Amino acid sequence: MKEMMQALREASIKAILNADDAESLENLRVKYLGKKGELTAILRQMGKLSAEERPVMGQLANQLRSEIENAIDQRRNELSAAMLEKKLERETLDVTLPGEKPHMGHKHPMYNVLDQIKDIFIGMGFEIVDGPEVELADYNFTKLNIDEGHPSREWTDTFYFTEDSRILLRTQTSPMQIHAMETRELPIRIIAPGRVYRKDEVDATHSPMFHQIEGMVIDKGVTMADLKATLNLVVEKIYGKGTVTRFRPHHFPFTEPSCELDIQCHKCGGKGCSTCKGEGWIEVLGAGMVHPKVLAGCGIDPDVYSGWAFGMGLERLAMGEYKITDLRLIFENDVRFLEQF
Ligand code: DAH
Repeated sequence: MKEMMQALREASIKAILNADDAESLENLRVKYLGKKGELTAILRQMGKLSAEERPVMGQLANQLRSEIENAIDQRRNELSAAMLEKKLERETLDVTLPGEKPHMGHKHPMYNVLDQIKDIFIGMGFEIVDGPEVELADYNFTKLNIDEGHPSREWTDTFYFTEDSRILLRTQTSPMQIHAMETRELPIRIIAPGRVYRKDEVDATHSPMFHQIEGMVIDKGVTMADLKATLNLVVEKIYGKGTVTRFRPHHFPFTEPSCELDIQCHKCGGKGCSTCKGEGWIEVLGAGMVHPKVLAGCGIDPDVYSGWAFGMGLERLAMGEYKITDLRLIFENDVRFLEQF
């Protein structure tokens, strides 16, 4: 029996030292020390021993058990230390390597221009307001004094949602004038930037979706002189001091009188060039004194109050400012284009 134990000692210690992972170690523990293990098998034969031999062999067997247990523990510690070492090796970081720069985005060029304009108007005490892009024809047309039968109300020009032409995608930001007059306390000073929609084919100067900025002032004693002074100041801030402007008579149903504001071409100084298409002038916006009928329709007494309004295209402004020659570039969001600004 002593020899059997000695053989088991040698075989087990050798196997344990060769085990190379936790799972095979556990298998060895079961193999040697488990209920059906080899040491147990040896102990079962104790019955055959004499009464003197039995305690001696029992002691030897206990000693062997703890030797095997110790060997297993030791090997387990070795294995986990080696694993940790490998893991650390795998995860070593060379802090002297140059880092990878995260790609930083930036504001879209058109929104730079919009922010500049917002700043100018905020500085003059205007509020910035927002409104629906899905609009009632009442607000987009009727309350703006645009009659049934006006060409801009045609199905070929406007995106309608309903057969009865009642609900549409707004074709201009001017309905924001009505919303402001119906919901705000007087006096009113607002600008309302936002998307507008028209059934236009896409080309270098047209898109079925584009942006406008609406502006409006309603107060007692407001005149065309206020309109001119304010817009001249805005033009000066956008295009620089000394920019020459011209207020040219025009027609809009919701303003009376109406005008368009041109700036003298900053490239040729008015002689005519490719930038101004030979005109010497560049159109910037439409404006006018809010029509008395529009005021009255919103419950404002035109004998007490008056106001002026304007609407301008944001893309056109951004194209001018950044010398962008094709409107499509603004919407395609090709980073090679956007990165230039
Ligand atoms: N809504 C007009 C357009 O889309 C632009 C405009 C003209 C707005 C005159 C105004 C205005 O507020 O007074 O062409």
